[in-house]
Amino acid sequence: MAERPQNMAIGPYPSTRFRRMKASDARRRLIREHVVTVDDLIWPVFLRDGEDDETPVASMPGVSRLTIDRAVKAARRAADLGIPVICLFPYTDISLKTELCEEAWNPNNLSNTATRAIKEAVPEIAIMTDVALDPYNINGHDGIVRNGRIVNDESVEALTRMALAQAKAGADILGPSDMMDGRIGAMRSALESDGHHEVAILSYAAKYASAFYGPFRDAVGASGLLKGDKQTYQMDPANSGEALRLVERDIRDGADMVMVKPGMPYLDICRRVSDAFEVPVMAYQVSGEYAMIKGAADRGWIDGDKAMMESLLAFKRAGCSGILTYFAPKVAEALA
Ligand code: PBG
Repeated sequence: MAERPQNMAIGPYPSTRFRRMKASDARRRLIREHVVTVDDLIWPVFLRDGEDDETPVASMPGVSRLTIDRAVKAARRAADLGIPVICLFPYTDISLKTELCEEAWNPNNLSNTATRAIKEAVPEIAIMTDVALDPYNINGHDGIVRNGRIVNDESVEALTRMALAQAKAGADILGPSDMMDGRIGAMRSALESDGHHEVAILSYAAKYASAFYGPFRDAVGASGLLKGDKQTYQMDPANSGEALRLVERDIRDGADMVMVKPGMPYLDICRRVSDAFEVPVMAYQVSGEYAMIKGAADRGWIDGDKAMMESLLAFKRAGCSGILTYFAPKVAEALA
């Protein structure tokens, strides 16, 4: 049995009564260990083409794909609420999806055009972008598919081109979510040689092959196309120690921050990573987590606002510096 630390000051009842410090709001606030603030939030936003319009995502009640002008307004509102980062995910029309995913590095694609528009109108919010080929891939995968296999090194070349295009458009933080090997190093050296010394990388380092991404794939229009699954590049949900090796590798290769994804089912990983490395750790409360909380709340089965705040607090307790959450504007309003 593990030895109890000497400083565990627990006397026998009744000298120790935990209820004493729970007896009033003032006392509870005094000893509160963790807090969620607006500074912890990254808001993922879905984009579509067109003007002054939006399309609700059926599996994510309350979330819509926004046209760029509406995304600019949303970014303005987010910045006014104090949200530090907005993260862009484009819904790409099927006509632009190809085998080689060329639209991914088009300087005028939806994501890059939105980046420039938001930068111009709301310079104080940081813009994070997604580096992965799935929105542009006719096969729905994050990497290029050849003869039914996701090819690593050719995908890394494409992803690096994509990352450079995003940096040129003005992205502040790149979020490689593709899980190919070698991508962080390739992107970092391309960014350095192209003069983008201050573009940060938030690596999706411990990203699991998860069923909780379903609603997101609807939102970006990738669900129908995906052939097979992502198990040859995303992590096995049965693994834990591998997450530490992936995080170590990505830090060494040039990541400024690392992510654990999904969030709530992987709080143990958040804790292990934040204990093991002095690096900012972000958790992604993914689409399926959002859908579960929102779906139950909309039916009156749980108190949605309380469940939302409690779920975010869990990430802070597990050692995370920040959280990507579709609830971000709601949380910011609740905290204001
Ligand atoms: C794709 C990507 C995914 C998410 C973010 N980037 C889905 C996937 O890997 O299939 C999931 C986000 C969410 O579910 O909210 N590169």
